Amino acid sequence: MQTLAITGSQWGDEGKGKITDLLSAKCDTVVRYQGGNNAGHTIIVDDKKIVLHLIPSGILHDHCTSVIAHGVVFDPEAFKQELDETLKSGITINPKKLKISENCPVITSYNKLLDAARESQGPVKIGTTGKGIGPCYEDKISRKAIKLKDILNKDILSRKLAQNIQEKKILFNNLYNMTFPSVEEETEKLFELGKLVEPFLADTFNYLDKNLSAGKKILFEGAQGVLLDIDYGSYPFVTSSNTSFGGIYTGAGLMGGKIDEVLAITKAYTTRVGEGPFPTELKSELGEFIQQKGGEIGATTGRKRRCGWLDLPLLKYSVKASNLTSIALTKVDVLSGLDELKICHSYRYRGKEIDCAWPGIDMNEVEPQFSDMKSFHDDFSSNSMSEELLAYIRTIEEAVNIPVGVIAYGPERKQILFRKDYF
Ligand code: IMP
Repeated sequence: MQTLAITGSQWGDEGKGKITDLLSAKCDTVVRYQGGNNAGHTIIVDDKKIVLHLIPSGILHDHCTSVIAHGVVFDPEAFKQELDETLKSGITINPKKLKISENCPVITSYNKLLDAARESQGPVKIGTTGKGIGPCYEDKISRKAIKLKDILNKDILSRKLAQNIQEKKILFNNLYNMTFPSVEEETEKLFELGKLVEPFLADTFNYLDKNLSAGKKILFEGAQGVLLDIDYGSYPFVTSSNTSFGGIYTGAGLMGGKIDEVLAITKAYTTRVGEGPFPTELKSELGEFIQQKGGEIGATTGRKRRCGWLDLPLLKYSVKASNLTSIALTKVDVLSGLDELKICHSYRYRGKEIDCAWPGIDMNEVEPQFSDMKSFHDDFSSNSMSEELLAYIRTIEEAVNIPVGVIAYGPERKQILFRKDYF
């Protein structure tokens, strides 16, 4: 296997960080291709907690090169903070280990202010991470984004910021009534930050092409999850990038190659942060119990995650939408010992029984149909699993027709069981 993609199959927070960390130990290059510092990948190494938002998880391994490709929206201010914190944890970061595409759109102060204004005053609250992700992707699509290469030249930067802010000014002044930095202030800030980013800037496109041709092992590290994809997700309660594997082609480039394996990180239950429909949500004490036991608090925003049973019609959909080829089932330990255990096998939707969602299905209308599963009480002190847990895993495999290749029962590297060989 030369190329592996890791994608969240639900609404993000499936535990991608730790699996990516383990698999990046076996590969040469780790690539982020979408999203930005809205992601939060928590990795526990030797009892030390490391949270990465923008920097790929490969940074934890000295033999690995980490690439932030052009599909990522890049906040230089957030990068500075993450760089400082990561260096403080004793991790080596230098331009040989980290390469950033000069074509990444830059998240500006204006993007962050707009995100905050819409969340507090807008007609629809999405429950964003507040990092300016959506407004920055809007700038990209409407062809007025500031690119990283622009922040290296004061004149170009100032000219582009003046164009960029022309319409936003009207929104800040007349709609949201808020103050915002002048073009001069923003130019100074970004130009200074540009000096820090400059040594890391590279032609990541040809770098990846050379790596692919040389047979190097490459891991594409997805952020968020398929159900937050701008095209496949539960629109409008989604993020603004292609979180599914299609994002790799546009956000990094695959140069005639193919992805050998798309590993779906899937929590043994379902969680969601922010607003939006959630068919299997447990609005009960049991939901709260799972939230607490699972430590379901957002790594980026500190918000409590909503919890519910595993939703197979959504998982089946994600498998198809993102070409998922195997599953890493995480946080299995959180379900161990529950008296009640259910799994959603289908929906009733407009008078019909369906077992797979589709883009645009109205998730407020679906009525989840559950199977009672036998509780399992594994303590994971040995590598063997109870019949009940194996039955839970088989139910998933049979429904979605791909194997569960990894089982994670705790946050540490040693609490991950591989049933399949990756790399
Ligand atoms: P944005 O990406 O900040 O625009 O937020 C849009 C939606 O995606 C919100 O519902 C967020 O809670 C969700 N979201 C964004 N990033 C993550 C993540 O890394 N994990 C889980 N949810 C996320």
